[in-house]
Amino acid sequence: MKNKNVIVTGGMGFIGSHLTERLLEDNKVTVIDNGVTGRIENINHLLDHRNLTLIKGSIVDLNLTEIFQGKDYVFHLAAIPSVPRSVKDPFSSNEANVTGTLNVLIAAKESGIKKIVFSSSSSVYGDTPTLPKREEMPVNPQSPYAITKATGEMYCRVFEELYGIPTVCLRYFNVFGPRQDPNSQYAAVIPKFITAILNDENPVIYGDGEQSRDFTFVKNVVDANILSCESDITGIFNIACGRRITINQLVDYINEITGKEIKSVYADPRSGDIKHSLADISRAGDFGYNPKSNFKHELSDVVKWLGKN
Ligand SMILES: NC(=O)c1ccc[n+]([C@@H]2O[C@H](COP(=O)([O-])OP(=O)(O)OC[C@H]3O[C@@H](n4cnc5c(N)ncnc54)[C@H](O)[C@@H]3O)[C@@H](O)[C@H]2O)c1
Repeated sequence: MKNKNVIVTGGMGFIGSHLTERLLEDNKVTVIDNGVTGRIENINHLLDHRNLTLIKGSIVDLNLTEIFQGKDYVFHLAAIPSVPRSVKDPFSSNEANVTGTLNVLIAAKESGIKKIVFSSSSSVYGDTPTLPKREEMPVNPQSPYAITKATGEMYCRVFEELYGIPTVCLRYFNVFGPRQDPNSQYAAVIPKFITAILNDENPVIYGDGEQSRDFTFVKNVVDANILSCESDITGIFNIACGRRITINQLVDYINEITGKEIKSVYADPRSGDIKHSLADISRAGDFGYNPKSNFKHELSDVVKWLGKN
């Protein structure tokens, strides 16, 4: 993508900051973020870039139609992204993820945006036993967060059908990489466990540790956003690697990389969590998505980053 003028909602977040960094190589980028879960530190190194505009505020309240004028594409990542947080406080998740997405879609329609790429989630599949997950399977949300993402996808489809705005919904499967916050109460498992092991603390596993995830390095997610936006394709796509790793294996890998032998402790499974997750990623091949994955190498990158930060 070159010489475009794009919006990244949630650009101060973990994934949004990587996407912003890549887009800024050849494009103008306006980031919209209210900092509720994102951090300015994620884009500090980009703030002096002449092609970056940062708008601090909520997608729920801002006049997005005005902000979107003259822009080509919207990469819509802003959301409260945690399953447990949505279980505890469904209303806030709904406001940011559903009302916020509706505001983005309305403004996109009114300002002539050419395409929207919406960050959805594998959580929409719920705990159906069938693996791998394919896009045509019925959605079966098990948490308020998953409901918000399934709703966002439906709004995208309906806006495309009613108003002709091309939309892509990318269902990410457990993204990881540098800049993922290890400290939040709702931190994702990889940064949380690396931080625990680096500090000689026992990682706490909810369940027996045999639950598995299709962990996806953030670079692959950035590629998927840009490739799907450039292509003529619209619709729903899984974004993952097409292989799964158990939580017990994850702990073994982290111990191996850090040279430690920290044991896990086991607690009751958490409500809303799903047991296994694995994607069929063949549909995303239609827009050229071809993820490269070397899990241990990618995990080492995160260990290095967390060690320094
Ligand atoms: N990380 C994953 O494994 C994963 C998996 C599936 C889907 N996703 C989705 O990808 C997107 C990015 O997730 P992430 O992991 O980078 O999370 P993140 O929390 O780091 O990023 C989300 C960003 O959105 C911002 N935000 C939240 N509500 C906002 C609002 N009302 N107005 C403006 N900004 C707001 C936050 O401040 C934050 O910077 C989210 O939509 C998330 O649901 C992430």
